[in-house]
Amino acid sequence: MDVLSHEGTESARRAVSLWPGYAPTPLLALHDIAREIGVEGVFYKDESARFDLMNFKGLGGPYAVARHLMSIIERKTGQAVEAEDVLSGRYAEHVRDETVCCATDGNHGCSVAWAAQMFGCRSAIFIHATVSQGRERTIKSFGAEVRRTAGNYDDSVREVARTAEKEGWTVISDTSYPGYTTIPADVMHGYTVMADEAFDQMPDARPPTHLFLQTGVGAMAASVCVQALERFGDERPVTVLADPSRAACWFRSIEAGRPVEITGDIDTMMAGLACGKVSLLAWDVLKYGADAVVAVDDADAENCMRRLAAGGADTPLIVAGESAVAGLAALLAVSRDKGTREKLALNADSRVLVFGTEGATDAALYERIVGSSPAAVLAGAAS
Ligand SMILES: Cc1ncc(COP(=O)(O)O)c(C=O)c1O
Repeated sequence: MDVLSHEGTESARRAVSLWPGYAPTPLLALHDIAREIGVEGVFYKDESARFDLMNFKGLGGPYAVARHLMSIIERKTGQAVEAEDVLSGRYAEHVRDETVCCATDGNHGCSVAWAAQMFGCRSAIFIHATVSQGRERTIKSFGAEVRRTAGNYDDSVREVARTAEKEGWTVISDTSYPGYTTIPADVMHGYTVMADEAFDQMPDARPPTHLFLQTGVGAMAASVCVQALERFGDERPVTVLADPSRAACWFRSIEAGRPVEITGDIDTMMAGLACGKVSLLAWDVLKYGADAVVAVDDADAENCMRRLAAGGADTPLIVAGESAVAGLAALLAVSRDKGTREKLALNADSRVLVFGTEGATDAALYERIVGSSPAAVLAGAAS
């Protein structure tokens, strides 16, 4: 699997650690859930504290923007530059007229806009019809020009490609396709930072036995899978993908043994996972790296959000957004099925790692689903 490189991962880790506000996000033990489903441990990597963005995407798009700007500076000055040079504004005049752009369900676009603001270039972010106004406002708050397009996410991907070509902008996409892989690979190198942090944080340095990973285009799951392989080799954890049943492109593709595009209505409540087409790079990893794929209903994800907000006797209260919980919801579903448990070797010795990839990135939607605002949930955590 040579989709990502060791050097790429190391360089991402170094660059990200320089950014203002960087700190590893917490790994939380969900003791109540572990007891209930009869495993040794369930560990939840809580990305709600990632920078000001409240989601893991702050690691990927921004790293790809940094790498892109470094290459522009190198081309214009003929000098090699380091990650700190982009951050310090030392070459501001060479980047200020550059425009980075992308299509987004919300989180990736926020992260690209955030990066453009941090590194001093421009951004144009394309959102489709059902992206919430709350998310639109957040993207604008980072100084981006926002364009709303007709159709679904995959239509906005095509629209941004056309516009970038015409305007001479650079697409920073989290999804890859034939002929467009360098930037998405940088995005994925950024995500490996999250995986590495989580593996470092596992109690007593014992690796997870299972990973349950939610999938949109699959870049996040593939990055975690690559990193698990790099760290644990043949001892790598059993890897289960969690795909929304309304946008089940991974489910269908794994079943068919080739990428299968889902067209039409893919409007799951899990906005970040509402993708109809797998990323080429992610496919190259997960066609071998995924051991199983589970389809998750919106209702199960909503139940999980409420459950995490309620906490437990010795489990913290957690604010988890809609796309954060599909991995956990898949784990809960699988754990109820004796046959699947056996197939996946899920038992009393299992240590399961899930990635809570976002907090309440759309506070109004969160409150509608959970019945309390994120602040009220957290106030419960403090009392
Ligand atoms: C919060 C959240 N979790 C998970 C994902 C899925 O990531 P990927 O599209 O790389 O599969 C996304 C994608 O937007 C997301 O926003």
